[in-house]
Order: sequence, then structure tokens, then C-alpha cells
Amino acid sequence: MIIAQISDTHIALDTPDARRRIEDFEDTVADINALDPAPDVVVHTGDIVQNGRPDEYAQAAATLAKLHAPVYVMVGNKDDRPNLREAFSGCEYLSRRSGFVDYAIEDYPVRLIALDTLNPDSKKGDFCEQRFRNLHDLIGSDTSKPVAVFMHHPPFEVTVGPDLRHFDVVETMLRLRRALQQSGRVVVVFSGHVHRSVTGSVGSIPGWVMASIATTLRKGEYPENVRARPIYQIHRFDPQWGFTTESRVVISSPEEPHDGDRSGWSTQDARL
Ligand SMILES: [Fe+2]
Repeated sequence: MIIAQISDTHIALDTPDARRRIEDFEDTVADINALDPAPDVVVHTGDIVQNGRPDEYAQAAATLAKLHAPVYVMVGNKDDRPNLREAFSGCEYLSRRSGFVDYAIEDYPVRLIALDTLNPDSKKGDFCEQRFRNLHDLIGSDTSKPVAVFMHHPPFEVTVGPDLRHFDVVETMLRLRRALQQSGRVVVVFSGHVHRSVTGSVGSIPGWVMASIATTLRKGEYPENVRARPIYQIHRFDPQWGFTTESRVVISSPEEPHDGDRSGWSTQDARL
């Protein structure tokens, strides 16, 4: 099974780099569509748009609609639950039960569980009592397969960058970590939010964090020929061997070659 993960596209329509963000997203989708073998599924781990606006979601949804593989979306701190639900109203997995964007995808040899860590009042993560109950129910609804958890905010310290922890309340993050570990079913956690590629762990559970698809917001240092090219992750799951993860640099589209000369686009003004 192959999962392509994308994150932090931050689609905006009126920022100086708005066109670049859209092109990064479009190029990534084209690259995923050209993968051979093709991914079974694509997961977007949030911050789909910059301001949660319907017109931004319309742009993002139009790009995602070009993916050949099934795509699942989640909320990040920049997203707006009602507007996201409206933009993706045809997606059955978003229509279920709670007011949160949390769900399980059951169609594969590993279950994919998406968690909603959005706090609309802050850019950091939150996880309330209702979401803990939802997590318990989601994990417990099928104990026959391992679980891969997708959540926007990493549930561990990322010890580079201005913020080490990405939850409002440390105890909430610690409680969530315990819940994931004690489930006995979760084999990996995939996140976004920090806009750089890092790894971490939740006890013995490995955690992967991917860079932002928006190259103008990406953190970290990259070779000159990579700075203008999005990077996404390909997770391969084998029932015997578990997960392996590969980072892929998007190949420039032949119709619109990227020469890497995008002066003025800097990571210094990146905002999570
Ligand atoms: Fe972000």
C-alpha cells in the first residue's frame, strides 16, 4: 500500500506569493499523478488554505480534484471547519458524527485515522474531552489491523525552530501521547504544521513530520536546485514489514520549467 502525504499548502488568493503557492500545489498533484506505481491514497494533513475562506477552498478543491487517487483532507490551524466541510461536502468521510474533522478510513491493510487538533483561537494544537472519546471509539471500532494516525500538529517536541511544542497545553499533548501508546494499535504518526521535515516519536511509535508544500513558507536549508520545488512524502506499508517513508522532490513540469530563481521568496517570513 502506498500513501502520498501532502501538507500545508496554505492556498491564498491575495498574498504576494499566492500564485507560487497555487503552482506548488498544482506541481505536486501532477507529480503524484505521474508516480509509478501510483499511490493508493493521498492524505492532506491540514493548513489547506491560509485564511479559511470559501474562495480559497474552492481553489484548493479544484486542484485536489485533479488527483487520480482517492484524497482525504484534514484540518490544520489555518483551516475553518465549516468552510472546509462545505468545500468538500461531497466527501462522505467528512459527514459523520461529531463536529470535529476526525474519521477512520477502513479500505486498506492499515487503518488511517485522522485527528482534529484545531484550536480556532490559537495556532497551536488542542485535543478536548470529546476528541479523546472520539479517538477511543475510532481506534476501538476495529482491532484487526494496525493504525496510522494523521494529525496536523506533531505530538512531540520539534527541537528546531522558534517553538518546541505545538499544543497549547503540554498536559494535553502528554495525555494524547499516552492514549496513542496505550491503544496498542498505532504504528506510526504522520504530521505537518512545522513546515520542515523532521522525525520524532511517541514512546516507541515513530513520528514523521513533513515540510510545507508551499515552498515560500518552507523552513530549513535546501540546495539551490531544490528551493523552488515542493517536497512531499511517500509512505509505503507492508503488513509484514510495516512502514517505510521516502521524501520526494517534485519534478519540474516540462510545460513550465522551474529554474530555481525565485528571488524574493524567502523562508524568513514563513508563518505557520
Ligand atoms: Fe502551516
